[in-house]
Amino acid sequence: MELRLAFLTRRAKGGVSTKEEAVSAEVVRIGRGTENEVYLPDPRVPLRMATLHHTPNGLFCEAVGAADLRLNGNVTRNAEVSVGDTIGVGPYEIVVVDPPEGKDAAITVELVQPAGDDVKDLMARSRTTLAAGGMSKRTWAWLFFLAVMVGFIALPIGGHFMHDERTADGPMGMKNDLSFDVAWKSGEIMDAHKFFAEDCGACHQKAFEKTPNRACAACHGNIRHHADPVAFPDEDLTEARCASCHKDHQGPNPMFHADQRLCTDCHGDLRDDAPNTTLADASDFAADHPQFRPTVSTDPSKDVWTRISLDDAPKEISNLKFTHKTHMNEKKMRLPTGGTRQLQCTSCHVTEPGGGLMVKVEMETHCAECHQLTFEPTAPKRQVSHGKPKMVLRELKEFYAARALEGGVPDEKAPDVVRRRPGTPLTKPERKEALDWSRGRAIEAASYIFSASQCGTCHEVVKGVDPEAWTVQPVRLTERWQPKSHFSHDKHRDMQCTDCHNAAESMSSADVLLPKIETCRDCHGGGTSTARVPSTCIMCHGFHTPDQPPMVKPKEMAGK
Ligand code: HEC
Ligand code: HEC
Ligand code: HEC
Ligand code: HEC
Ligand code: HEC
Ligand code: HEC
Ligand code: HEC
Ligand code: HEC
Ligand code: HEC
Ligand code: HEC
Repeated sequence: MELRLAFLTRRAKGGVSTKEEAVSAEVVRIGRGTENEVYLPDPRVPLRMATLHHTPNGLFCEAVGAADLRLNGNVTRNAEVSVGDTIGVGPYEIVVVDPPEGKDAAITVELVQPAGDDVKDLMARSRTTLAAGGMSKRTWAWLFFLAVMVGFIALPIGGHFMHDERTADGPMGMKNDLSFDVAWKSGEIMDAHKFFAEDCGACHQKAFEKTPNRACAACHGNIRHHADPVAFPDEDLTEARCASCHKDHQGPNPMFHADQRLCTDCHGDLRDDAPNTTLADASDFAADHPQFRPTVSTDPSKDVWTRISLDDAPKEISNLKFTHKTHMNEKKMRLPTGGTRQLQCTSCHVTEPGGGLMVKVEMETHCAECHQLTFEPTAPKRQVSHGKPKMVLRELKEFYAARALEGGVPDEKAPDVVRRRPGTPLTKPERKEALDWSRGRAIEAASYIFSASQCGTCHEVVKGVDPEAWTVQPVRLTERWQPKSHFSHDKHRDMQCTDCHNAAESMSSADVLLPKIETCRDCHGGGTSTARVPSTCIMCHGFHTPDQPPMVKPKEMAGK
């Protein structure tokens, strides 16, 4: 329904001001929640109060929550309403008025009982003085003081010492029966920890001691070190307290100390703590962070990967030939079925579930439609399987053997026995002749398949004397260019791919098409930036490195 909505405000000195809105909705919702089309921001209105529908007979108003409506002063749950009717919604009055041209209906909304007066009335009626309780202020003060001492100091401490066996039991499974120490809770525990939130002792193992790592390790025993503790035996790293970075009591979501100092204490001058490191210093993303050094394949035959700064024009040697520029040119993209196609970046690159990185490019999925591995002009649909060089010759042999034995091969150069009428039986010598021919054809087809026009289009082919051993150089496509950080394509989906990757102009698969740090700095400022997206270290970096040993040694977890 198309509805015109007018909010009326009466000035103290008389005169009405009107704020108009056009609403277009199947069902118009009325209430205090901001999702409502008729949004009534008064605390006395329920979040969802009523709905208005358009029916063939006119407007229909219906209460949705427990609160009733008032139609022209009478309490009701629902009613048909027409021009002139007044619907009372809490302190508001909604009047149905004549709709203007092009609208199905029109209403005015006015706050007729402003909250201010009610609240003032209520305050005046409920004012009670301390003296009215029959005791002096001083007596009250002492009573409260004692209550606080007992409730928040004596009981929790007493409770703690009466149930001290919990520490001996270890951190799990020891519910404090009295749980008076709950009174000391300093804020809501994060959702992931809610299931034992009242069990203070699970984390606060000893009275008046900071939460020890072993308490966390009882459940997070798998949490990993940040750097190799043998190569970097720095105490700040090996003895770091979990709680120095992980707060709790901060509400439902896990909190990390976002303060960069937790990282820059070391990374501002890393050689100070780790003299033999190969990493460059970083103290702020905008002001002091090294150029990215992606990890690229430099010798695919030996599986060598090297980190090279984007400032040093790295070259990726993947053994796969490919030019982005050709494939982005519609005129060159002729399809085997005729016609041309404009490829998009997303024809070959789609983000993986979760939105972080791109799914690996694959021959079958992304190339095979145009690059068909055909080999026999008289069987244009027949292809060899991709990715199995050993299979190729076998498939070809089987194909030509079957043809030769069947007969009727339309090839003028072939011997008569192969060209004979299909189905005529063969003598033993004829059979041998046919198979000899087929083997020769299979090798000819293999030379074609492994040539520059088939496998060789994309691969460096390795051809020896023995066709059985023909193969291609191993392909090493990088899947994770910057493994020391994380990145999410989905968070940047409003940008063009080419804002970050100069792929459309790339003439060689050796080009590394990654954006330099300067591109990121257009939007990502330092830790305290206000002009750009404030970006502390943990926006892009984790802390626990999966390939390092566990942070807490088993013997510490056992207890002392
Ligand atoms: C999941 C573990 C966990 C549980 C359960 C837990 N706490 Fe904490 N608590 C912490 C951490 C972490 C800190 C940060 C202080 C630190 O450095 O040790 C903390 C700090 C505190 C502080 C110091 C003030 C502050 O906010 O830094 C108080 C008081 C406290 N907790 C009380 C309690 C009480 C009472 C309970 C039981 C109802 C409880 N905690 C349950 C982890 C926990
Ligand atoms: C009784 C077991 C238990 C104890 C003790 C415990 N945790 Fe947890 N914690 C969990 C579980 C279960 C989860 C949720 C699963 C997960 O993310 O591993 C969790 C999640 C977390 C998370 C990540 C939450 C997220 O969603 O990313 C952090 C950080 C964490 N715990 C830190 C701590 C710290 C620090 C301590 C010690 C002060 C501690 N935990 C003590 C059981 C525990
Ligand atoms: C120098 C700061 C620092 C210290 C010390 C630290 N963490 Fe973390 N931790 C982080 C950061 C940052 C993240 C978020 C990492 C990410 O997103 O990959 C994290 C993530 C986690 C997570 C959730 C993600 C995961 O990998 O499962 C858990 C659980 C956790 N830490 C537990 C611990 C425990 C237990 C300790 C102590 C033994 C500890 N941390 C010590 C900084 C720290
Ligand atoms: C106690 C000192 C210390 C602290 C604190 C520290 N680091 Fe490190 N960091 C190191 C050392 C040592 C290495 C290993 C250096 C090497 O491999 O050459 C390292 C390695 C790294 C690496 C490279 C990881 C890899 O996979 O090789 C990154 C990224 C990093 N730290 C980020 C952080 C972030 C983010 C924080 C804060 C949450 C942080 N660091 C806190 C000392 C520290
Ligand atoms: C839409 C059809 C199409 C798709 C999909 C396609 N190609 Fe091509 N490709 C062509 C055409 C047509 C040519 C010849 C272009 C010319 O005229 O230079 C070609 C040429 C090539 C060449 C050699 C010449 C050059 O400029 O690079 C390579 C290598 C190549 N493609 C690899 C691939 C790979 C790898 C894939 C899959 C990731 C792929 N192609 C997907 C149609 C396609
Ligand atoms: C249009 C380009 C294209 C053609 C033509 C092509 N391939 Fe591939 N090949 C790829 C791509 C892309 C990959 C890597 C992704 C994948 O495995 O699909 C690959 C991977 C391979 C691999 C795996 C290499 C490794 O080290 O993991 C082998 C083996 C292979 N191809 C053999 C062949 C053979 C044999 C032919 C000819 C019959 C052939 N390819 C034709 C594009 C091509
Ligand atoms: C906007 C994202 C972003 C922020 C913020 C960021 N980094 Fe990085 N950082 C990266 C990327 C990307 C790399 C390259 C990772 C790779 O090559 O694997 C990197 C590399 C590093 C390295 C390795 C340096 C080397 O020698 O190659 C260290 C150490 C590092 N960052 C520490 C930090 C610290 C400390 C902070 C906080 C002051 C920080 N980073 C903030 C994205 C970021
Ligand atoms: C904000 C800059 C940015 C934008 C925009 C962007 N990328 Fe990326 N892209 C990156 C970075 C950074 C990496 C390196 C990630 C890694 O491996 O660590 C990357 C990696 C890739 C890779 C290599 C495979 C992988 O996931 O690591 C491909 C392919 C890719 N991007 C394609 C695209 C396409 C297609 C688009 C458009 C839909 C796009 N990118 C948009 C920054 C961007
Ligand atoms: C026909 C399929 C195809 C299309 C279309 C395509 N790519 Fe690629 N892309 C590939 C292949 C294959 C590779 C791996 C070989 C290489 O590194 O060139 C690759 C690699 C990449 C990489 C990895 C980084 C690198 O340096 O190799 C990026 C980034 C990338 N493409 C971005 C793009 C963008 C942006 C577009 C659109 C302008 C695009 N691609 C269009 C097939 C395609
Ligand atoms: C056009 C602006 C823009 C550019 C350029 C840009 N980013 Fe971002 N980036 C954003 C915004 C906006 C967010 C979302 C911030 C948020 O969610 O709080 C974001 C989020 C991120 C995140 C957090 C992702 C997550 O999982 O929460 C990372 C990591 C990141 N960017 C890295 C990079 C890197 C690396 C580059 C350079 C290659 C880059 N960004 C370039 C705007 C940009």
